[in-house]
Amino acid sequence: MSYLNIKSGSVVVDCTLGAGGHSEQILKKLSPDGRLIGIDADADALEKTKNKLKEFGSSFTPVHDNFVNIDRILKKEGVKQADAIIMDLGISSDQLESEERGFSIKREGRLDMRMNRDSGLTAYDIVNRYSERDLSEMIKEYGEERLHNRVARYIAEARSKRPIETTTELASIVRRAAGFSYRKSKIDPATRTFQAIRIEVNNELGALEEGLKSAIFWLKGGGRIVVISFHSLEDRIVKNLFKGYSQLKILKIVTKKPVRPSPDETASNPRSRSAKLRAAERI
Ligand SMILES: C[S@@+](CC[C@H](N)C(=O)[O-])C[C@H]1O[C@@H](n2cnc3c(N)ncnc32)[C@H](O)[C@@H]1O
Repeated sequence: MSYLNIKSGSVVVDCTLGAGGHSEQILKKLSPDGRLIGIDADADALEKTKNKLKEFGSSFTPVHDNFVNIDRILKKEGVKQADAIIMDLGISSDQLESEERGFSIKREGRLDMRMNRDSGLTAYDIVNRYSERDLSEMIKEYGEERLHNRVARYIAEARSKRPIETTTELASIVRRAAGFSYRKSKIDPATRTFQAIRIEVNNELGALEEGLKSAIFWLKGGGRIVVISFHSLEDRIVKNLFKGYSQLKILKIVTKKPVRPSPDETASNPRSRSAKLRAAERI
């Protein structure tokens, strides 16, 4: 909240509304004269959060869309410029914990992983239809998985018998490929392959790069942008973009190093452990 620097009357865009935790705090500071546009690709999250934030009335505008379309969204909403923009990337706990969304390596569900359930490509399509070579490339690039060739081979072998339908089926195939032993390894190797598939399904890195570039140009002089990322592929994009725009004198970097959660925060919220926050100000 301090990096966003919200004042009464501010115009703010929350690009990743989710359960509205950030938006609620922001609305408390900017209302009743300010405005918050809350974007989420997930219609279920939007419905729930609309209800939760209804006390803020016309200060809050929910939008079902991908933030890659921020130009179109803000034009349509009649926004001229923003005082602050936030992106809290990736998936929410609600999405991760819901079996039917098919994101979890632990909860059995049909392979899906779409943030926006109106969009086409699902995890099932990727796992069962991509060539072994494309799978291997994707797992290497988006999962940073050393054993990408082996994992892709095991997937191809398994699906040659019958399609791979569920999250838990896929997770056990990946664990077998990696020779995973729960006793020896801290991180389940299925996590990396699931991350890769999720990024591919939702074109997460493409949306981040394009969306962030556009968002920066909606900021007023002195306006702030804050991005919270959860893995190195995302953080690299944010870091490089901020650096490039600071060299061009478009942005001033506010956080020289990414801000990490305190030990207290990771103890009370273990999912925050990989979070990195970067903030910049429009010149
Ligand atoms: C980590 S959660 C955000 C949690 C939120 N900050 C809160 O306080 O509850 C990320 C949310 O952003 C959404 N999301 C991720 N990438 C998106 C994108 N490119 N466009 C729109 N929504 C996106 C997801 O659907 C998810 O609901």
